[in-house]
Amino acid sequence: MQSLSATHAKSLLLLSTILCTLNLVVTEQGFCSAISSVTDSNSNCNPLYSKVINPTLNPSHLQDLPGFTRSVYKSDHALITPESHVFSPLPDWSNTLGAYLVSPAMGAHFVMYIAKMQESAKSGCPPKDVERFVFVLQGSVTFTNVSGVGQTLMVDSFAYLPPNSEHLFESYESATLVVFERRYAYLENHVPEQIVGSTDQQPLLDTPGEVFELRKLLPTSLPYDFNIHIMDFQPGEFLNVKEVHYNQHGLLLLEGQGIYRLGDSWYPVQAGDAIWMAPFVPQWYAALGKIPTRYLLYKDVNRNPL
Ligand SMILES: *[C@@H]1O[C@H](CO)[C@@H](O)[C@H](O)[C@H]1NC(C)=O
Repeated sequence: MQSLSATHAKSLLLLSTILCTLNLVVTEQGFCSAISSVTDSNSNCNPLYSKVINPTLNPSHLQDLPGFTRSVYKSDHALITPESHVFSPLPDWSNTLGAYLVSPAMGAHFVMYIAKMQESAKSGCPPKDVERFVFVLQGSVTFTNVSGVGQTLMVDSFAYLPPNSEHLFESYESATLVVFERRYAYLENHVPEQIVGSTDQQPLLDTPGEVFELRKLLPTSLPYDFNIHIMDFQPGEFLNVKEVHYNQHGLLLLEGQGIYRLGDSWYPVQAGDAIWMAPFVPQWYAALGKIPTRYLLYKDVNRNPL
């Protein structure tokens, strides 16, 4: 009897090993190759930044765990993971659902939100004196300003709108955007202008003492009171400086996974995760896993903190 059940257990183990192996293959095929999404952005199989909308650790797998979330909210930082996003209609936008991930209620001076535009959706205007930055994560939008010429913005494209500049984003099928807005900090004799571009057109910048690759999506000149950085890390690369600074951050992980240190907490993070960092929270990142990390980072700049 004992030997029979031992044999039974052995064959069960073997069976489950085979099933696991099979499952692994299916999973890998189901997600396609994550590497191809980085090297081949035209791949229909796995479009660029698709993991932001369909994270590796899919929220549907977490539905079996009552009450489980990786999200954390503390006084000096927050990690907001996709299973805790709550979407509701965005005021002033049509056919669009939004999830605010960072807002002044946390202590931030800006908002960061995901906007899911559905068929025939239209953007609303930001409040008076508020500037806006839009980055396309999925689908495409048509951007029109007062000059009236429509421009198509695809995944990886972005637009910056100075305060009080009339404009419209429209989606004909569907599009997902990450949007940053803040009340513009005016500076005498400096006027910001509309910027439209895409990440791959931005030059790589020097990062003395660091190994990550850096692109800035906005000009570094004085009219601009914030910038958006795109930072790339190969697996195993990490921030050299254990940063503590006056600037605040809103971060969206676009690709890859790793460990983010925020204050005294160390968080496993993956594409789709959003982070709020208050001024002076100790912060550090290491990219892990098999594919490079890319994240998008809001940072206030060019203004006297007084
Ligand atoms: C409207 O957009 C076009 C194309 O990006 C640009 O050339 C033009 O300067 C913009 N107009 C204003 C008022 O910013």
